[in-house]
Amino acid sequence: MNNNTIAIIDYGSQYTQLIARRVRELNIYSIILPYDFQESHVDFSSIKGIILSGGPSSVYDKSSPKLNKSILSYNIPILGVCYGLQLLIENFSGIVKNGSIGEYGPSEISLKEKSKLFTNVSSKTNVWMSHGDKIQDMPNDWIITSKSENNVISSVENKNLNIYGVQFHPEVVHTQEGTKMIKNFVLDICKIIPDWNSENFIKNTISEIRDTVKDSKVLCALSGGVDSTVVSTIMKKAIGDNAICVFIDHGLLRKNEAQEVVEMFNKSLDLDINLYDRSEVFLSKLKQVKDPEEKRRIIGLLFIEEFQKITSNYGKIDFLAQGTLYPDIIESGGYGGSAKTIKSHHNVGGLPEKMELKLIEPVKELFKDEVRKIGNDLDIPPKFIKRHPFPGPGLAIRIMGEITQERLLILRESDAIFMEILKETGEYDNIWQAFCVLLPIRTVGVMGDNRTYDYVICLRMVTSLDGMTADWYSLPDDILKICSSRIVNEVNGVNRVVLDITSKPPGTIEWE
Ligand code: XMP
Repeated sequence: MNNNTIAIIDYGSQYTQLIARRVRELNIYSIILPYDFQESHVDFSSIKGIILSGGPSSVYDKSSPKLNKSILSYNIPILGVCYGLQLLIENFSGIVKNGSIGEYGPSEISLKEKSKLFTNVSSKTNVWMSHGDKIQDMPNDWIITSKSENNVISSVENKNLNIYGVQFHPEVVHTQEGTKMIKNFVLDICKIIPDWNSENFIKNTISEIRDTVKDSKVLCALSGGVDSTVVSTIMKKAIGDNAICVFIDHGLLRKNEAQEVVEMFNKSLDLDINLYDRSEVFLSKLKQVKDPEEKRRIIGLLFIEEFQKITSNYGKIDFLAQGTLYPDIIESGGYGGSAKTIKSHHNVGGLPEKMELKLIEPVKELFKDEVRKIGNDLDIPPKFIKRHPFPGPGLAIRIMGEITQERLLILRESDAIFMEILKETGEYDNIWQAFCVLLPIRTVGVMGDNRTYDYVICLRMVTSLDGMTADWYSLPDDILKICSSRIVNEVNGVNRVVLDITSKPPGTIEWE
């Protein structure tokens, strides 16, 4: 962990990640802890400030997440946001009341007292509110620093304890001067040194890898995507030829993908990639498997099995490097507490409990867009960095139900046409991720004078920053028309094309 860290304690707000990002945008490292984190999992000597997120709960619900009081013993500045503020007030014997009318959406607050949190903030400023409960009685030694236009207490502080609280959300863009407030908290109040930048990240990561790996060899699992490309490039820089780059073709890649990826790596990057075709093994184990989680489990286990077999070609290999990202760590409960493993998808689809290879995950503290930035600074050509994400289980989770050769062929051809159109029209770079999904149903159509009874292809396009949330992308109608008519006309076995207009949440980006 970085020595200048801001810890964000998560009480379930949809904006928790956004707080982490806002802090990182100020070149300060941030981590997200579940509200019931275990103290022993966290190095508090590195933490210079704590932000308590908002959350949907009410402090007087018996089952609501409680304040982990241990944080008060470290004398670290604290900023409570919304529910985080209410927890603090309750803890210091103030009273939080259930407001008969909540405040949701834009509001204007007026500053009442001078506060370090509001240095250079206008005396009246627009904020984003989202709360039902509000402060009724202030605890002793705390002061009110602002009120909303509805006369609701919108910020408070205890100067002696260096604890601050805001009823609104400074992390969302609708709070006009929110970034300034977060900056005031981390730079002026926590007095943190902004040393989180890609140059330092690369330097520190390389030296950590060297310390961990020493003279051992590392298998770098490449997928052609940006995360594993960045990881392999860093590994090469750190340990040279002891980093062995392996790309497994599991038979679930897109049209010509294996050849294209190898060619792209060999031409543009000095990574010397070793391609292994294991498609028969994967496809035979997936025969007749319909359940999405079962597909992922099989693929995950096979990947590790195959990697372990491949290691014997290179003498003794001790480590497996992969491109796990920060959201994976958050979702898998890396700091103890009650965070559940939300998905078994991360990286190669869930790892077996017993693994001979030790894992090394150099970008596990980064969000996707941060990985892209590191990639840029490592001089990785834009064509790698701009590639849309492609999941480890590949087309297996884009064919709903059973995977057959016929379905794979149909999906590959459709997807290739779709990508070609997006690239030709310049839309590819406007979209975070685009792909086709094959539905396992057939519908009736008419082509020429004949009845057809064929598969349905769905087009999925999303915009996103890090894949945690996403909006569906609205491709202009004339381009959609080209996609539909080209896919139906050129791909045998498809007679209908539909469009997915679901954001995440409630949908996920992939369909399985
Ligand atoms: P979802 O479908 O969860 O996807 O909204 C979010 C992002 O993660 C990618 N994804 C995966 N990536 N292995 C990966 O390496 C997986 O098993 C996996 N499942 C989903 C997905 O393509 C999207 O970019």
